Amino acid sequence: MPSVGSGRPRRLSAAEATQDKMAMGPTVVVPPKHLMASSTLPSESIATTLEEARNHIDSLSSPSTPSTPPETSITDKYAFAFDIDGVLIRGGKPIPEAIEAMRVLNGQNEYGIKVPYIFVTNGGGKTEAERCTQLSQQLEMEVSPGQFICGHTPMREMAERYNTVLVVGGEGEKCRQVAEGYGFKDVVTPGDIIKDNQDTTPFRKLTPEEYKHSRARNFAEVKIEAIFVFADSRDWASDQQIILDLLMSKGGYLGTRSKNFDEGPPVFFSHNDVVWSTSHDLTRIGMGALRVSLEAMFKAVTGKELQTTAFGKPQIGTFEFATRLLQQWREDTHGITAPPETVYFVGDTPESDIRGTNEFDERAENSWYSILVRTGVYQEGTKPRFQPRATVDTVLDAVKHGIEREYQRRLRETLPQTGLLSQDNNVEP
Ligand code: G3P
Ligand code: MG
Repeated sequence: MPSVGSGRPRRLSAAEATQDKMAMGPTVVVPPKHLMASSTLPSESIATTLEEARNHIDSLSSPSTPSTPPETSITDKYAFAFDIDGVLIRGGKPIPEAIEAMRVLNGQNEYGIKVPYIFVTNGGGKTEAERCTQLSQQLEMEVSPGQFICGHTPMREMAERYNTVLVVGGEGEKCRQVAEGYGFKDVVTPGDIIKDNQDTTPFRKLTPEEYKHSRARNFAEVKIEAIFVFADSRDWASDQQIILDLLMSKGGYLGTRSKNFDEGPPVFFSHNDVVWSTSHDLTRIGMGALRVSLEAMFKAVTGKELQTTAFGKPQIGTFEFATRLLQQWREDTHGITAPPETVYFVGDTPESDIRGTNEFDERAENSWYSILVRTGVYQEGTKPRFQPRATVDTVLDAVKHGIEREYQRRLRETLPQTGLLSQDNNVEP
């Protein structure tokens, strides 16, 4: 970990961002302590705040003024957390404002302030390190696994609990590799099951490539203890057939049938987004839709309710996980130990991002402030099922909104009598 005031930071360009290089650890600048915002404001800081206020007023009156000041400092007061699909990325390509938004957080703003941030996506299907390499290239900056959570990240904590598990979803063998990386001891895929008995799925035959990678075993002797849907299924019909077979089995043995359909293994989904935002103009169905469909199918076939569990947003556990990650990230990279007073969560899906942030805000010790963008699942003209604290066009507007709100709060706290507060801004206190 770089120490406070250590010399020049190690820089890593997005183009050369590889897993190995990023595994070397954080690369963020840690400024001298006197440049960090503190929780109390001594007279020196008030003088700085006054100076910043003047700069701010100047910048409001001449918007074309270059905005990057000569020095930057890192705030310990607040932080950002970003959803990815529909906020930063759509269909594998960055949303244009996303690159600028990251630059603003990294210090290219009129206040010369850097703001710590993390990413919390429900997506997955790759290792966190692979996903960060991809995101680094897309956003033209480095993203570390230390600031990243995806839908299946919390499943890591289930690895000790089960011996043999079925892992569903994603491309090829990728999710098996992710699960094994999490420490799952014995990971089975639908491909292994079809390889053992090709009559399992009447309309799906393994490709030669799939056949080669799938593992040969005798499933009459294998007890599958749990089912994990790690990423979106690439073949709903055959994956659902296999999951249904297991749910109706006697204790997780394929080829058996439970009398009352209540002996099957538990099933876990890495998230519950029914729709998500990708390259199509309209939202596309996702893992939550598979979950709904599976529950309906189980009911239709057995007459019983199926209980399933979903991780990801809006689950409180995911936000608790995010809190720990943010705490660790701010400490490791910026030397900040106190929790942020406010976390701005920027998302596009009211049911997961906004709901989760609002509900977590009610129980967290600090403030979690939800910002909804118009670049993803939420469509202007519809009424979101969960109300955000603010709605803006793009992630860049969301970043500016948070920074401006914080700035106004600091002014209010330190300069109540000066009349320097901006009268015409519409930022919610
Ligand atoms: O499949 C991923 C999608 O449902 C949501 O991803 O980044 O919007 O949480 P994200
Ligand atoms: Mg999203």
